[in-house]
Amino acid sequence: MSVFVIVPAAGSGSRFGGDIPKQFLALAGKPILQHVVERFVVDGEVSRIIVPIAEALVTSVKPMPRVQFVAGGATRQQSVSRGLDAAREDDGDVVAVHDAVRPFFSPEVFHAVVAAAREHGAAFPALPVSDTIHVVDGDRVVMTPDRRFLVGAQTPQCFRVDVLRDVLARAAREGDDASDEAGLAAKYGFDVRAVPGDSLNFKITRPEDLVMAERVIAEWGNVSS
Ligand code: CTP
Ligand code: MG
Repeated sequence: MSVFVIVPAAGSGSRFGGDIPKQFLALAGKPILQHVVERFVVDGEVSRIIVPIAEALVTSVKPMPRVQFVAGGATRQQSVSRGLDAAREDDGDVVAVHDAVRPFFSPEVFHAVVAAAREHGAAFPALPVSDTIHVVDGDRVVMTPDRRFLVGAQTPQCFRVDVLRDVLARAAREGDDASDEAGLAAKYGFDVRAVPGDSLNFKITRPEDLVMAERVIAEWGNVSS
């Protein structure tokens, strides 16, 4: 059984700023999105990669074997749904959803998340938080959850295909819009497992994250595993 991957890449990168959405900016000489796609292309467990991008770009991207570009949507969740709509029956039993702007995911963590999703239905790489997290209302702290129970959700998040279909259909019905499919799955009562992630798999959100990514490659090469 194999895995197919959805790489939502239709965002505008508002926190990053600039004229070009961050996933198309160069990292060590090639677009961040290309780093991500190439990492999945060489993975022996991956059958196909579906990449939702801005509708205007779909006809202008260079075709790549085993990669399908489709039109994304107005939110990340809609982009993921469009990606799932493009899946074929024989693409695999598990689907992975991975941010276009996390170029340093590890194949070992990915495979562990796939295995956990195959067994339990849904799984994601989790990173224990280093900071204390407060819940605030404006500038007033209203609650401070115990840090031992908090993790940051990374990607690739993996699901049995039927689970992700159910989750996205229900979210659309109920008007839920979440930044993370694992959280939605948990909200709807699915068994979602946290697999240890690693801090190198950070998301390029702001310009300083791209500076950090360039330094990582300069120091360690393309950290392939
Ligand atoms: N994404 C998407 N479609 C959208 C919005 C986001 O495919 N309508 C994708 C982004 O391209 C990115 C991933 O979801 O690969 C993670 O989102 P994030 O880091 O939040 O990227 P942006 O939404 O582009 O950035 P921002 O939130 O700062 O605007
Ligand atoms: Mg966003």
